[in-house]
Amino acid sequence: MTLALTAIDIIRRKRDGGTLNDTEISWIISAYIKGQVADEQMSALLMAIFFTGMNDSEVHAWTSAMVASGKTMNLGKVSRPTVDKHSTGGVGDKISLPLAPLVASFGAAVPQLSGRGLGHTGGTLDKLESIPGWNCHLDSKQMGELLHDPGCYIAAPSTDVAPADKKLYALRDITCTVDSIPLIASSIMSKKIAEGTDALVLDVKCGSGAFMTKREDATSLARTMVQLGNDAGLKVSALITDMSSPLGNAVGNAVEVGESIEVLQGAGPDDVVELTCALAAEMLSLAGIDIDDPGKNLRNGKAYDTWVKMVQAQGGNPFAPLPHARHSDTMYANSHGTVSQVDALRVGLAAWRLGAGRTRKEDSVDPCAGVIVHARPGDNVTKGQPLFTLLSSSESGFDAARYELANSWQIAKESPNTPLPHTKTDASPSYSLPLIIDRVTS
Ligand code: URA
Repeated sequence: MTLALTAIDIIRRKRDGGTLNDTEISWIISAYIKGQVADEQMSALLMAIFFTGMNDSEVHAWTSAMVASGKTMNLGKVSRPTVDKHSTGGVGDKISLPLAPLVASFGAAVPQLSGRGLGHTGGTLDKLESIPGWNCHLDSKQMGELLHDPGCYIAAPSTDVAPADKKLYALRDITCTVDSIPLIASSIMSKKIAEGTDALVLDVKCGSGAFMTKREDATSLARTMVQLGNDAGLKVSALITDMSSPLGNAVGNAVEVGESIEVLQGAGPDDVVELTCALAAEMLSLAGIDIDDPGKNLRNGKAYDTWVKMVQAQGGNPFAPLPHARHSDTMYANSHGTVSQVDALRVGLAAWRLGAGRTRKEDSVDPCAGVIVHARPGDNVTKGQPLFTLLSSSESGFDAARYELANSWQIAKESPNTPLPHTKTDASPSYSLPLIIDRVTS
């Protein structure tokens, strides 16, 4: 005799540290989507998973059930090898913007489905929407055309891509169950598997501005995601990268687009260029395209040309001025020394307070809001030198943002003449972590 499955039995078993089988997981995800399992019950199950975790076979079944809740896109007719990148989210993380056109400029196809920011982490779609006319909604015909030429798009996932994740993510967000390794891994990988790419490079962020603040947790998340991808037949590798301080100088929406364009034109902050090139090298290698120096297409204009075509094909005007903030304020160093900390979380919260991020999914963002970071860990500063510029369309968030930023930085008393970390001698202190902390391939 087969007993009917019930949410209560499943929640109880998970609460008590037991293991769920494939049938139970597939049933509960499908019943939740159909409205047969209530939000309260799913919340209880998510909290039980948050505390007791999931083993490999449960995460695998949970991911497969979320993929099966929608459609898997078929990119089969694309003439180029498809490869995507996904970041677990950080502060100033604009890497997708220069990366997709850079990788496409070498002959790969990048079918990037991106998300919006929530809380202190930015969202790629929010950033790109500060370009006048740019549209994140593409149908499958447009996607196919763009993968052929210019070879990339950055778009919102259609409602068919892992709809269970959409519903579960909204519930996790309001029940404090986001930062769980099995739930993050299955959420990200269900969308990437459904997107139909052949290969995927993960940028797993680690540090105060990331979901994973500890290196062991970031490594465990990376391993889980690589395994899930491999099980689904994708080629996957992961870089674990530093998110203790913001990436680049610009944190916000339009300002991050501006900084990405600098990178695409062969300039921009060193860390943004370094990470863009490291991820491009990984992606091209998985796509079977052998390139010694991915940075060459940033310097020779080919990546920028691809960007222009991609933005135009998505309705945007790549040459139009980006929105400009009506209000600004600058905060200055109060002593001489070497910057020893610029805390990513605090800077992200400041940008959010200024209007760059949203509190609820339905909120809109201020394209002009953000923070420009003038001095980064390892930089020597003198008293009175600008540390941050705050930008917004409205004055209402300035006090809260100043409070976050006032607590975000520290200056150590070394001589202002101490060499910077990248030119550092053995005797000089190092205040910045390596940008690329580790690489995980299995
Ligand atoms: N990004 C996702 O898509 N899902 C998560 O759970 C966390 C980050």
